[in-house]
Amino acid sequence: MGCEHAQAAGGQTSPQQFEENTLSEVRRVIAVLSGKGGVGKSFVTGALAVELARRGNSVGILDADITGPSIPKMVGMSGRRASGLGKLLLPEVSAGGIKVMSSNLLLENETDPVLWRGPVIAGAIKQFWSDTSWGPLDYLLVDMPPGTGDVALTVFQSLPVDGIVVVTSPQDLVSMIVAKAVNMADKMNVPILGVIENMSYVTCPDCGKKIEIFGQSKLEAVAENYGVKVLGRLPIDPALAAACDAGQIETALPAGLLPDALAACEAIEPHDEPGAFSSPAPDAAAADQA
Ligand SMILES: Nc1ncnc2c1ncn2[C@@H]1O[C@H](COP(=O)(O)OP(=O)(O)OP(=O)(O)O)[C@@H](O)[C@H]1O
Ligand SMILES: [Mg+2]
Ligand SMILES: [Zn+2]
Repeated sequence: MGCEHAQAAGGQTSPQQFEENTLSEVRRVIAVLSGKGGVGKSFVTGALAVELARRGNSVGILDADITGPSIPKMVGMSGRRASGLGKLLLPEVSAGGIKVMSSNLLLENETDPVLWRGPVIAGAIKQFWSDTSWGPLDYLLVDMPPGTGDVALTVFQSLPVDGIVVVTSPQDLVSMIVAKAVNMADKMNVPILGVIENMSYVTCPDCGKKIEIFGQSKLEAVAENYGVKVLGRLPIDPALAAACDAGQIETALPAGLLPDALAACEAIEPHDEPGAFSSPAPDAAAADQA
C-alpha cells in the first residue's frame, strides 16, 4: 500500500499497486518520461542521478526499459550481475554510489535479444520494486521505456510515483510530446515536475556561443500553453555521449547542468514511512533497555 503522501500525490491505492518490501525505504519516486524514443531519457535520468548523488543524497535508478535497458552501461556496470538476498534482489552499486536495478543485470548474456511479452515485462517491473532491496533511498529515478504505452501505464499504476520529468528534443513535435505526457499525468494523477529539452543547441568550441541548429526552441511557448515548467535545456555534447557509452557519466558529467530540475526534485515532500531502518525491531529495543 502507498503511504499518505503517495495517496495525496497519486491517489494510487488501487489493488494492483505493488507492495514495497521491508528492506526498502524509498522517500521519493521520480519518473523520466517522453512521448517518444531516443530523445535522451536515459541520459537525463543518469545526469539527474549523478547530480543528486553528488549532493549527498542516496540515489537509485529503476530501469523500467526492460527491453532496451541502457542505464547499467552508462554507469560502468556492463557485464555485472545483480545478486540475491534470500528472495530479494540486490541492486548493483556504481562507483559513485548509485544503486541500479535493470533487466540488463539479470540476463545471462547482455546481447541476448529480450523477447518478453507484456505480462512478463510487468512482472519484471514488479520485481524491481517489490522484490528488490533498495534500502533507504532519498530518490528513486525511474528510466521509462519510450512512449506512453502499456509499460508506462504499469509503472504509474504500480509504483508510488511522486512526479514526472518530461524529456523532449527540438526536432520533435514538442507540442505533441508534452500533450501526451500531460494526458498521461492527468489520468494517473501524478504531477509533472517540468520538461527538459535535450540536444537543444550546440556550443561553439571557439567562442562559446549557443547555436540552435534546429531553429529557435518552441519549448517555452509550449510549456506555458500546458502549464508546465521548463526545467532546463541541454546541449548536444558528443564528448559526454562518448563518456556515457564508456560507462563514465559519473566522472564526465559537468557540474551544475540542471539546477532547476534538481530544485524540482528536491521540492518533493519525502515519504516518511516507518521502515526497517527507522524503527528498531521490538527485540532490539528490549535488548537496548536490558
Ligand atoms: N545531449 C546529448 N548530446 C549528445 N548525445 C546525446 C545527448 N543526449 C543523449 N545522447 C545520446 O543519444 C542516444 C540516445 O539517448 P538516450 O539513450 O538517453 O535516449 P532515450 O530517450 O533513453 O532512448 P530510448 O527511447 O531508446 O530509451 C545515446 O547514444 C546518448 O548517448
Ligand atoms: Mg532509454
Ligand atoms: Zn563561435
